[in-house]
Amino acid sequence: MTNKSINTVWHHATITRADREKLHQHKSIILWFTGLSGSGKSTLAHAVEEYLHNIGVSTFVLDGDNVRHGLCSDLGFSDVDRVENIRRIGEFAKLMTEAGIITLTAFISPFKSDRNIARKLVPHGDFIEIYCKCPIETCEQRDVKGLYKKARAGEIPFFTGIGSPYEEPENPELVINTHEKTLDESIQSVISLLIHRGFIKNTL
Ligand code: ADX
Repeated sequence: MTNKSINTVWHHATITRADREKLHQHKSIILWFTGLSGSGKSTLAHAVEEYLHNIGVSTFVLDGDNVRHGLCSDLGFSDVDRVENIRRIGEFAKLMTEAGIITLTAFISPFKSDRNIARKLVPHGDFIEIYCKCPIETCEQRDVKGLYKKARAGEIPFFTGIGSPYEEPENPELVINTHEKTLDESIQSVISLLIHRGFIKNTL
């Protein structure tokens, strides 16, 4: 995207990310959940947030459906709009890391290139991609929001997995087969990874 904000000068904060991480007593990172609609991203992100919050970690969830009510309410589901959606979320999540917070994002984020752009916004290692892998048949069977039915009926032309592609992550930090695991097992997989990488202390 062309930067139209010319004649602006960066103002350096006196309180840094490192200062905020010290205050919070943990590193700030991005947990980027990706997967089809109905694959369990939001449920898992909120459940992991709850776990982290209860052990004293500062967190915030950015959720696709919610963000599209506000920050991204001007965007639809064309390729161009999805690219812009994920660009904004990547930048927002980056700001949250500057604020010393562990951000959990739950967006379909169907395009590899957009996820990689978001990854590169923060220092190497601070972006954890978590693929909520679930066959479309299962998502469709669940159809919690009734959107797959509408998409099959031709009422939602660019629905991910039907009229619009989902590009699977090639090297995500974590793959969770959400249709085979309980929510508790999925939470533990994420928490174990965070402990293993030294982001949080072992309280398991
Ligand atoms: S993304 O593709 O730009 O990453 P995002 O995660 O923000 O999507 O929003 C996805 C949510 O919007 C879905 O969970 C679903 O509830 C709703 N939705 C509405 N229309 C579509 C569509 N055409 N494709 C996918 N999801 C849609």
